[in-house]
Amino acid sequence: MKFFVDTANIKEIEELIPTGFVNGVTTNPSLIAKNGDDMAKTIKTICSIVSGPVSAEVTATDFETMLQEGEYLASLATNVAVKVPLTPNGLKTCKTLREKDIMVNVTLCFTAAQALLAAKAGATFISPFVGRLDDLGENGMDLIEDIVDIYENYDFKTEVLVASIRSAQHIIDAAVIGAHVSTLPPKVIHELYNHELTDKGLSAFLEDWKKTGQSILPK
Ligand code: E4P
Repeated sequence: MKFFVDTANIKEIEELIPTGFVNGVTTNPSLIAKNGDDMAKTIKTICSIVSGPVSAEVTATDFETMLQEGEYLASLATNVAVKVPLTPNGLKTCKTLREKDIMVNVTLCFTAAQALLAAKAGATFISPFVGRLDDLGENGMDLIEDIVDIYENYDFKTEVLVASIRSAQHIIDAAVIGAHVSTLPPKVIHELYNHELTDKGLSAFLEDWKKTGQSILPK
């Protein structure tokens, strides 16, 4: 499973790069607003430090402007994946950008039927939002399971990019189902390391080691 980082904050991305876990980045208009810097500058910088796909989202809602925005965003770097909403104009834009060999991430997916349409429009990635479905009392992972099954049935090449992730359990569930990508807020990446028995075990090992008076490196 590939890990994308769900942030527009350069410092957070830079801190995570040495882990080797950063296979790409996703941004959205809310994350760009939260970061506070110019969007084009931010996307260019992220693309220069991350070699995998970097999602940059259009904000127009009509087809012509959406397409212009998509082409502009794609011109910023070769690893930009243009993010379009799952609307009729978004899918039309997806199809046109894909014909120009531009990567497209179709976002705001909440049903398997929407995901089927995105795959038929040639999307590179489909982003189903699991956390927002859970917030409504539904089980977001049921949607991931359905989409993975449907794409396998018809050998669609669109990758399932699990978005709106809130916990380590979401990643485990998505990985068990076989989703291709998870996009993780940095906070959740840090959570993945944690287990109280790891901390407890390490303290005990270090205490015992101290008693030996040894050091591994020759003095
Ligand atoms: C990323 O592609 C999505 O925009 C993001 O995961 C949405 O997350 P949220 O539901 O926590 O805002």
